[in-house]
Amino acid sequence: MTTFQNFIGGRWVGPASGQHFENLNPADTRDVIGRFPLSGAEDVATAVASAKRGFDAWRRTPAPARGDVLRRVGDLLTARKEEIADLMTREMGKPLAETRGDVQEGIDTAFYAASEGRRLFGHTVPSELRNKWAMSFRRPIGVAGIITPFNFPLAIPTWKMFPALVCGNACVFKPASDVPHTGHVLVEVLLEAGLPPEVINLVHGRGDVGAAIVAHPDVALVSFTGSTETGSRIGETCGRMHKRLSLEMGGKNAMIVLDDADLDLALDGVLWGAFGTTGQRCTATSRLIAQDGIHDEFVAMLGKRAGKLVLGDGRKQGTDVGPLVNAGARENVERYIAIGTQEGDVLSLGGKPAKGAALDHGFFFQPTIFTGVAAGSRLEQEEIFGPVLSVTRVKDADEAFRVNNDVAYGLSSSVYTRDVNVAFRALTELDNGITYINAPTIGAEAHLPFGGVKQTGNGHREGGWEVYHFFSETKVGYVDFSGHLQRAQIDNY
Ligand code: UN1
Repeated sequence: MTTFQNFIGGRWVGPASGQHFENLNPADTRDVIGRFPLSGAEDVATAVASAKRGFDAWRRTPAPARGDVLRRVGDLLTARKEEIADLMTREMGKPLAETRGDVQEGIDTAFYAASEGRRLFGHTVPSELRNKWAMSFRRPIGVAGIITPFNFPLAIPTWKMFPALVCGNACVFKPASDVPHTGHVLVEVLLEAGLPPEVINLVHGRGDVGAAIVAHPDVALVSFTGSTETGSRIGETCGRMHKRLSLEMGGKNAMIVLDDADLDLALDGVLWGAFGTTGQRCTATSRLIAQDGIHDEFVAMLGKRAGKLVLGDGRKQGTDVGPLVNAGARENVERYIAIGTQEGDVLSLGGKPAKGAALDHGFFFQPTIFTGVAAGSRLEQEEIFGPVLSVTRVKDADEAFRVNNDVAYGLSSSVYTRDVNVAFRALTELDNGITYINAPTIGAEAHLPFGGVKQTGNGHREGGWEVYHFFSETKVGYVDFSGHLQRAQIDNY
């Protein structure tokens, strides 16, 4: 079995503890992918010291040259797309079509980042005084702590690290312990593309590694995607230490299907939104809000199709839905099945771990639908992160919008309607970072800002042009070439 290492101080090294954890295939836990370092605070300290050295030279490298490295990263990821998709499915579980998409999202992010190295715009504005220039420009910040989840093993680390690097920062990267192999390969690719070694440091391990990164005084900024609970703890530490922090956390995303919707279109949408990635997306459709007039017909159509989804190994052709990522994830889903049942919601499909010869060694769970779920109930309010959809009946669009907004989270939402007025009202009324019209709640594109409101985030966005503001600091320069003292606010008035 292969034993993997951290990448710290410009070389591959074992953890200070000498200990490792096993990385298992969630579709068949007899398949052990490798042993990965069980690192701790000591490894983090060495990694941060290395990143500080890396930062010192990297921040002086012209941004277009930094972008060139990302262009080569995009080329290398393109060449290795199939291989990376396969190893990602093996450690994470989602089907190959989805892991190919995950790699593609990383490729798109790389090429966007490459060209951003030639922009990183500032402003030049008129000064109020004669013979004086005023301008703003962007500076790198320092060592960025990058802490990422299991569900997009490549895409999410690229969303964070590629802009961080183009902006001139150095990274200490901790991938989720369920998907360390993809993290390892991503670092390999960055190095092969010519990133100076100490600019990237990879530290494998569990939550204590993330905590040590966040608390290290020389880590100037932190970007985290994961649970709201962990995000709150990170926020407390960063608040105390005045660190810049970007949080991307939970969701409880709803698809609203109105009486005038194209039901076949909405059906394809909800199946993909709710059960794609086994419901393990922060953008997953976990609530269906259906208007009275179509509710019964649509729920019947949905039950029929959802019951036919093929569960299995994501590397086998014909698999629609892979396993949950680990035993803890399956226990959590089972807990919510019990909660829904206690609340009196009607279990109309699934509700159990999936059995069958090809499934018995993996963390498979049946696609599950609860109907008659009351707005405000726990099933309707709390993020589950599994293949569980709750259905709530409403009488009109206004009630649908209220139900959509009446949750703690605000990542994405979706409305199926043919009425353009309702569509635009939804865009302005729904309290989410993203609203889709006639498309499901998942599928954000890499060149647009991604993120949510309320408990989903803390006001920052990933993706697109906005993330570049997070990873750089605005500085202002004034140049007075008048040759004499000019007093702003005084001499001109
Ligand atoms: C996530 O689940 O954390 O929009 C990210 C989507 C994907 C990204 C999801 N492009 O569903």
